[in-house]
Amino acid sequence: MRLISGSARLAGVTGWPVAHSRSPRIHNTWLARHGIDGAYVPLPIRPDDFPSVIPALAKAGFAGVNVTIPHKEAAFAICVKVDDFARRAGAVNTLIFTPHGIEGSNTDGYGFVANLRHHGVKPAAGPVLILGAGGAARGIGAALQDEGAEITITNRTPERAAALAAALPPAKVLPWEQREDALGDYALLINTTSLGMVHEPPLPMNLDRAAPGLAVADIIFAPLETQLLADAKARGLKPVEGLGMLLHQAVPGFSAWFGVTPEVDEALYRIVAA
Ligand SMILES: NC(=O)c1ccc[n+]([C@@H]2O[C@H](COP(=O)([O-])OP(=O)(O)OC[C@H]3O[C@@H](n4cnc5c(N)ncnc54)[C@H](OP(=O)(O)O)[C@@H]3O)[C@@H](O)[C@H]2O)c1
Repeated sequence: MRLISGSARLAGVTGWPVAHSRSPRIHNTWLARHGIDGAYVPLPIRPDDFPSVIPALAKAGFAGVNVTIPHKEAAFAICVKVDDFARRAGAVNTLIFTPHGIEGSNTDGYGFVANLRHHGVKPAAGPVLILGAGGAARGIGAALQDEGAEITITNRTPERAAALAAALPPAKVLPWEQREDALGDYALLINTTSLGMVHEPPLPMNLDRAAPGLAVADIIFAPLETQLLADAKARGLKPVEGLGMLLHQAVPGFSAWFGVTPEVDEALYRIVAA
């Protein structure tokens, strides 16, 4: 059994609800692996309480927290400093409590690109089609552009696709109805919508027109293999699952709070997938 002392370093994940979060499992696995005197705990915080509870956690000695739905924009608003990804996304998923105030970063894009590389997929091997224009698409689109990728956004609500493309020039927009016919023009397809997740309808996406070698990434991780990924695999395309992104996006926070850069490996994947 791993015991913590009176000087243990503390971090956690804030959300409402937060009981479904896999982040405690990720961070506590790393803490145990590295023999660190620390703990990472779930912190269910109501939206109305978020602006007052976060500074209180900093005063109570926490090193920082992860931020999940619905607090990512509220977290952005309370930071004295944010990184470039957070600024472009308008959202923060990692807070670091420093003597100078609360600093925020958005590690979703970093996690996505790191997971692509882990699967042997080059982020800028060819044009990228992003399905969805929500918070995750913002962070991922910005990170892919930094890698030199040419991105196109398609979304059910065209105004949101246009707004995201305007925030990430020179991103292009494709009408949602044309996503299947145009698929042959792309080297990487990414689902960033919530479709395909447990309790959600499946993503309507026929892969008949895929170019050979198309990489198909889904950021949904429950189920581990979505219908989109199963279809890609059945056609001999390259599937990239979403749980790896969740593991990789956790690395920068852990490193800032606990002073060690942890490894994402098969053993961690199995523990978090279980
Ligand atoms: N693997 C990871 O580490 C990771 C990280 C972040 C998020 N995620 C997952 O990614 C998903 C999206 O997260 P988010 O924060 O970007 O959510 P969000 O901001 O709410 O965006 C949701 C997106 O899904 C689209 N959508 C929802 N229902 C749809 C439908 N019936 N038909 C077509 N499009 C639909 C929305 O389109 P409209 O604009 O038309 O509404 C929007 O583009 C979530 O399931 C989340 O759990 C995974």
